[in-house]
Amino acid sequence: MNDTELERLNMNYIHCLNNISAYGTDLLTSDYALTDAADEAQGILVRSAAMHDMEFSDNLLAIARAGAGVNNIPLERCAEEGIVVFNTPGANANAVKELVLCGMLLGSRGIVCGIEWCRDNAEDPNIAKDAESAKKEFAGQEIMGKKLGVIGLGAIGAEVANAALGLGMDVLGYDPFLSPTAAWRLQPAVEFTTAVEDIYRTCDYITIHVPAVQGTIGMINKDACALMKDGVVFLNFSRDTLVDPAAMTDALASGKVGVYVTDFATPEVMQMPNAIVLPHLGASTEEAEDNCAKMAVLELMDYIDNGNIVNSVNYPACSLGVCPEGEHRIAVLYNSADLAIGQVTAILEEAGATFDFANQTRDEHGYALINVKEELADDVLAKMADLEGAYLVRRVK
Ligand SMILES: NC(=O)c1ccc[n+]([C@@H]2O[C@H](COP(=O)([O-])OP(=O)(O)OC[C@H]3O[C@@H](n4cnc5c(N)ncnc54)[C@H](O)[C@@H]3O)[C@@H](O)[C@H]2O)c1
Repeated sequence: MNDTELERLNMNYIHCLNNISAYGTDLLTSDYALTDAADEAQGILVRSAAMHDMEFSDNLLAIARAGAGVNNIPLERCAEEGIVVFNTPGANANAVKELVLCGMLLGSRGIVCGIEWCRDNAEDPNIAKDAESAKKEFAGQEIMGKKLGVIGLGAIGAEVANAALGLGMDVLGYDPFLSPTAAWRLQPAVEFTTAVEDIYRTCDYITIHVPAVQGTIGMINKDACALMKDGVVFLNFSRDTLVDPAAMTDALASGKVGVYVTDFATPEVMQMPNAIVLPHLGASTEEAEDNCAKMAVLELMDYIDNGNIVNSVNYPACSLGVCPEGEHRIAVLYNSADLAIGQVTAILEEAGATFDFANQTRDEHGYALINVKEELADDVLAKMADLEGAYLVRRVK
């Protein structure tokens, strides 16, 4: 084997299915190279490209989605083919937070109508004087001292809650599944309720930051709207399906909801009175794309180089840091309904190996990372790979 062939053999290849910010790809270390051939890649970086019809080569170890939503990726098929799928939660949270703050201001002052008035009167030579009499139509309210309800206090909701405090608002949060990490991100002045109805009944502004899943789809329905304060400003920068369009149309028509600010332009929303509609701009900033690309690249490299899984959407989190000097590392992806980790450790014991390991499962997908003092022979790994339920056994180091 000549030097070039050896270099190619030791190289990890990454294929970009979409344009990925160089802010991320520039972080690839010298043993990585970008490739145009998806089939030779160990890792794929993707944004919104549809992957459901793609065939994956045996070389592919992982896919990283630079962004949060993963409905363009066949997660279950990937899991069964031993391909770990990552996303980049929180990497675009600041971008969405800033637009939500903008949305609150758009909902509280006649900014949109005021801009339209100026456009419509662009040719008026007396526009400066006429503006003084027209502006009373566009007067609004300040948000300082008003109460903001935040439904969902994850990456985005927590940032919105904290920023609203800085604008002088009172903030009431609701999140029945709040993780300890997310709770730490909240400033102590954010009040908390265990009843979402408290948000509906008492808040002047309500913003929703939850995933669209069974249990949240359509949660802003007729009953929820009926409990809200008259003239509330409702903001939806999460997903269109969280809000029942018929209920919101009625609530806007009756004045129950004063303004509906949404990042989702649907045919129904475009017919609603007093809706301020944006074309899904929440995460559309240069910085968010850079942050997502950076996080996606680091996740891919940590998995390929060390076997660590952080922020996967089809496998459990499982990390052992960097493999200790002089030791070796094996990764096993498996179906936990068919294979018990004891079967893997029994093979190691039979081979006389000295090892320690981390093992996690998520639904039926299991992942074990094993540090071994001795270098294992190929036939030991082959025995593990032959176990029923083993998706992939990989020599990481
Ligand atoms: N507009 C955009 O461009 C844009 C960009 C990024 C994310 N998003 C959307 O924003 C939403 C939030 O994203 P995130 O990154 O903050 O997610 P996240 O996972 O960090 O937070 C979601 C939070 O919602 C909570 N939650 C789940 N069900 C709930 C319920 N029934 N009631 C109250 N809380 C509940 C969870 O416990 C979690 O804390 C998602 O729907 C995401 O798709 C939109």
